[in-house]
Amino acid sequence: MGSGGGVTRVYPSKSRRDMIERIMSKSDDSLKMTMVPQEMRIDYGKDSLDERQAAQDPMKQFGNWFDQAQQAGIVETNAMSLATVNASGVPSIRVVLLKEYDARGFVFFTNYESRKGHDLAGNPRASILFYWQSMERQIRVEGTVERIDKAESESYFHSRPREAQIGAWVSRQSTVIRSRAELNERQAELEKRFEGREVPLPEYWGGYRLKPTVFEYWQGRASRLHDRLRYVRTPGGWWRMERLAP
Ligand SMILES: Cc1cc2nc3c(=O)[nH]c(=O)nc-3n(C[C@H](O)[C@H](O)[C@H](O)COP(=O)(O)O)c2cc1C
Repeated sequence: MGSGGGVTRVYPSKSRRDMIERIMSKSDDSLKMTMVPQEMRIDYGKDSLDERQAAQDPMKQFGNWFDQAQQAGIVETNAMSLATVNASGVPSIRVVLLKEYDARGFVFFTNYESRKGHDLAGNPRASILFYWQSMERQIRVEGTVERIDKAESESYFHSRPREAQIGAWVSRQSTVIRSRAELNERQAELEKRFEGREVPLPEYWGGYRLKPTVFEYWQGRASRLHDRLRYVRTPGGWWRMERLAP
């Protein structure tokens, strides 16, 4: 029992830690076991990131790491956590899919009337995070968010599978619903309504672009002495690169 409060912490002994480390470094199913979170520990060391190898342009660096993550076989490389904060300062976070990136920023699509949509209407700033575990990498980006042009949303919406287009009509995202059955009924109803014609873009659905002001590239290193390179946009429009303590 710890001396402060009633929290009991059971830290594993050195021999158990060594055993756990051996197990966690193997992919053999027969070695799988359950552990309490305190026992979970991996020492990183797959790669490093230094100022000379990192691109001067943080978006170029993103492209390099994004391509490498795909080559490494990461599933849904484009899944990113999106953090927003409402007008009262309450944060919330969820996963969305990155659908486009270029010098202007990062584009994702959603329902403008969802919780994140309301947050962004009241406070148009957000942060996104990519975590690629097998590469021991994370990328953080902060910036301001704005809606993309309607024409761009139209074009992406119509490139989606028809069921997904109808799905956008079915779901008033983030509202409370009575049951799954209500969703299924609405789906059947809307499939009938749009039968034989193009599904129009709902008024409340489209893309947002996060325009970056800060990037951070994180590479796991041994002994928790990770590499962290941050790029900050200067008033002159240049990017200043700096190293952060891990
Ligand atoms: C892998 C993954 C990808 C997702 N992609 C999207 C997406 O691109 N757009 C979206 O609106 N929701 C997406 N979602 C669902 C969101 O995580 C979330 O449940 C939804 O947007 C409602 O969030 P909100 O109530 O905070 O607005 C995805 C979820 C997962 C797990």
